[in-house]
Amino acid sequence: MDRIKRDYVFHRDLKKDYPIITHGEGVYLFDENGKKYLDACSGAVAANLGHGVASIGDAMAEQAKKAAFVHTMRFETNVLHELAETIGKMAPDHLNKVYFTTGGSEANESALKLARQFHRDAGRPQKHIVIGRWQSYHGNTIGSLSAGGDVKRRHAYTPNLLNYAHVYSPYCHRCPYGRQKDDCLAKENLTCLTDIERTILELGPENVSAFIAEPIVGSQQGAVPPPPGYFEKVRELCDRYEIVLIIDEVMTGFGRTGTNFATEQIGIEPDIITFGKGVSAGYAPLAGMIVHDRIINGLIQNSDGKFIHGYTYSGHPVAVAAGLAAMHVYDRDRVLENVNEQGPYLVDRLLELKQKHSYISDIRGRGLLIGMELVRDCEHDQLFDPSEKAAETLNGIAMELGAVFYPGTGSIDGIKGEHLIISPPLNVTKEEIDEMVNILDRAFTIFKEQLRKDETYEITK
Ligand SMILES: Cc1ncc(COP(=O)(O)O)c(C=O)c1O
Repeated sequence: MDRIKRDYVFHRDLKKDYPIITHGEGVYLFDENGKKYLDACSGAVAANLGHGVASIGDAMAEQAKKAAFVHTMRFETNVLHELAETIGKMAPDHLNKVYFTTGGSEANESALKLARQFHRDAGRPQKHIVIGRWQSYHGNTIGSLSAGGDVKRRHAYTPNLLNYAHVYSPYCHRCPYGRQKDDCLAKENLTCLTDIERTILELGPENVSAFIAEPIVGSQQGAVPPPPGYFEKVRELCDRYEIVLIIDEVMTGFGRTGTNFATEQIGIEPDIITFGKGVSAGYAPLAGMIVHDRIINGLIQNSDGKFIHGYTYSGHPVAVAAGLAAMHVYDRDRVLENVNEQGPYLVDRLLELKQKHSYISDIRGRGLLIGMELVRDCEHDQLFDPSEKAAETLNGIAMELGAVFYPGTGSIDGIKGEHLIISPPLNVTKEEIDEMVNILDRAFTIFKEQLRKDETYEITK
């Protein structure tokens, strides 16, 4: 078919031409010209079991033939119950009820609304403000965008956003509060924590409904884990001021960081965990939230048991069938064990690259969610200018060479700071890791040549 004639798609970037993918197999995607791409970022950290897993496709087809759609206002399906039970059992002890949505933004939107209804029904009607964190991402709907702190995504919609508050998330590599990590930890005095309490008191605790955070900051900062003890203190503050703690595991859930949920590693029980992406390993639009018994009991005791919310496609049978089949594959292929084996290997290989290329200033993350901070010159800590689009350029070169990574900008202050996320499917092999790191190595070499050419051009101009 002629390319122009079929181009009715409202592309992500209307000025860009995108390769057409015809199929995928394992960690590889293939385009219509037969070019092969190693998917080193699982799409958007979603295709966690790789491509072409027949058992998931078969389960979806079977469910579609049996009952493709029922409306959860009137009916439920066995697959819905089975998947909810599987997820509920993976979650911390007191988080047992699972609510499904079609995407992570909707999951967070639902969590923010549930927090608000919970307080209202319990006789705390003033509680409505959400505290989020700068350089964190919770989605693109107005509520989730308002709670998030992605400066570039927020700017275009500033007049439409809700009046939510934000604190800085702990980015110890470049502390936004100007503190030194060792000093902070030694004194057990983290400014990022004192700032949360100060913000709550300034807003008035009686007005604060929820605090929302990613356990490991994903797309906006490039896989930044929290300092030890941070979330325990956040939990304490939320308890003290009756604030619902929402942990956004849309990117980190289902084994990505080496445990079913990253929440296990931060050692707390949130009130709500939101999830997405990995729940169906990208085979269907599926996401949701897992809710603490306390909130569910509140809904039962203080109201008519109804969450005043809902979507047509909540608990869509074909999507939950995909989720259930994905859970079987995670289990059958011992995917969690593989993450804990390949994660450290990937980090070691990337640290080798760090020795070789002075553009890499930091490697961080957990499991197979690894971030790499990029600077112009590591020795002098010279940052790239955002206009250089360093991470995107590097990823473009890698794509030419046959591997795709997840580039990001704004990790330092929302505008400055370039990073790449390396997050292959969780069943990746050592050989595939070697292949992706070797491609990245070659991409850095070409990137360096291009920068040199640009610099020579600048000087001779
Ligand atoms: C942590 C986090 N929360 C929420 C979202 C939004 O999810 P979705 O794009 O499925 O709406 C994302 C997506 O990247 C995410 O990484």
